[in-house]
Amino acid sequence: LLSLFQAADLRDYKVLITAGPTREPLDPVRFLSNRSSGKMGFALARTARRRGADVTLITGPVHLADPPGIEVIRVTTAVEMARAVFDRATDMDVIIKSAAVADFKPQAYEEHKIKKKETGLRLELVKNVDILQKLGQNRHPHLTLVGFAAESHRHVEEGRRKLREKNLDLIVMNDILGSTTGFDVETNQVTLIDQQGSTTLPLLSKEKTADHIWDKIVAIRRQP
Ligand code: CTP
Ligand code: CA
Repeated sequence: LLSLFQAADLRDYKVLITAGPTREPLDPVRFLSNRSSGKMGFALARTARRRGADVTLITGPVHLADPPGIEVIRVTTAVEMARAVFDRATDMDVIIKSAAVADFKPQAYEEHKIKKKETGLRLELVKNVDILQKLGQNRHPHLTLVGFAAESHRHVEEGRRKLREKNLDLIVMNDILGSTTGFDVETNQVTLIDQQGSTTLPLLSKEKTADHIWDKIVAIRRQP
């Protein structure tokens, strides 16, 4: 009965979730990317759908099938992800940026495959747009904005700083040094940081972690 009741608690939410890595091509056969399986973002999307939300999922290249009942948009680069997000951001109630966006892209794309040279190769990189920061700068009052961050040390301090600097309601911190958490595993242990404080969840499946994150978002949206 409880689960039936809970099943529809996101009924009135229109949500946008980003997942997976981005890929920044260097030449026709090479790219720069980040480690990210997309599993956490897909779990957040499936969970939101199960709890009644209208869900749009924008994902970088991952080995995961489209979850049923969800609009899935597949992109490759950070620039493509940014365009897909900004095109759809205005009428969203919740945006969760769980994607591992590449911070840098090659300054130039080489039309032809780069050949081996005796002297090695120096790459010129330029910064990608920070999608989450842009969203935080132009937020409308009914939006709840959620970021993710993976840190190898001082994760609560770093989380607080990103929460403030990106103007977020919630940030989900992954400790990337644990072997049972983070990349390409089924379980996750995260710390949720909002304006009120921080809570570390137990080691859980990504599905259960997703439910906790949605519970927190519902609680934040109910605050006066
Ligand atoms: N993010 C984004 N666009 C980028 C880089 C990051 O939207 N170009 C988002 C991520 O999706 C994540 C959040 O910002 O939700 C935090 O990403 P993270 O890599 O931890 O922070 P950065 O601001 O990129 O700082 P740094 O990598 O130097 O720690
Ligand atoms: Ca980054």
